[in-house]
Amino acid sequence: EGEGHVTDYAFSFEGPFGSFDKLQLQRGLQVYTEVCSACHGLSYVAYRTLAQPGGPELPEDQMRAYAEQFTVLDPTLNDGEGGERPATPADRFPHSGLPNAPDLSLMAKARAGFHGPYGTGLSQLFNGMGGPEYITSLLNGYEDPPACAPEDFEGYYNTVFQAGGYPEECKDEEGHHLFPGSWIAMPPPLADGQVVFADGSRNDTEAEAYNAAAFLMWAAEPHLNARKEAGLTGVLFLAILSVLLYLTNKRIWAPVK
Ligand code: HEM
Repeated sequence: EGEGHVTDYAFSFEGPFGSFDKLQLQRGLQVYTEVCSACHGLSYVAYRTLAQPGGPELPEDQMRAYAEQFTVLDPTLNDGEGGERPATPADRFPHSGLPNAPDLSLMAKARAGFHGPYGTGLSQLFNGMGGPEYITSLLNGYEDPPACAPEDFEGYYNTVFQAGGYPEECKDEEGHHLFPGSWIAMPPPLADGQVVFADGSRNDTEAEAYNAAAFLMWAAEPHLNARKEAGLTGVLFLAILSVLLYLTNKRIWAPVK
């Protein structure tokens, strides 16, 4: 069975000292807004979080302006009859517009990029779960379908996606897949130069996907920066405490020895 290959991209938020790169998150927000949001939702993420520390950190006025582009249905308007109003910072991103496109709020933590070896999970211990690596690789994983596939086989051939349809014609006698990946319902969403970043940074398909994946990691784990800082402070505190306790212990027992 062909395992799709997930590339081990380096992200700024990896490791004990890692943190989100707010400019990258802003670029990812741009990719999400211009491309992904046409089909997907981000319904657990409130607009106000775009301005919070440790995220894309949009200036307050930009965050408000971002929210106001969207219209929400509010059942309390017009004396309880309901109506539409512009979104406020307290509202959340919309649900998926396309019913079969999954919500992306938690996607970066719902997928794993690394497995094994032999089901031990050791790879994840050293490389992390690999959610953002999976997303970057998936968006870069489209290829021309192998010749064995029927012309009209439903979906788009993707070398990283595992859960999709797979034509019988591309399996051997024992049912093993002859090619990695499977056929996904999502058409290739990105192309070289499709998103022109406000900061003029690299915008081939890979860079667009990489930025979108970082943004989705933030969406799934918005307090990562604060969590890592607290952890580090804790470890530092315990290290200093150990030294003090050791010295105290020495001094207390000094007369006995
Ligand atoms: C599935 C990301 C744009 C339609 C997915 C999945 C991810 C993803 C991570 C889940 C794959 C899995 O289950 O492992 C993105 C990103 C986009 C984007 C980051 C923007 C760069 C789009 C667009 C459309 C779309 C524009 C519609 C034209 C779908 C559909 C699925 C899907 C229908 C379900 C695929 C299946 O289960 O076969 N997307 N997507 N996506 N996406 Fe997107």
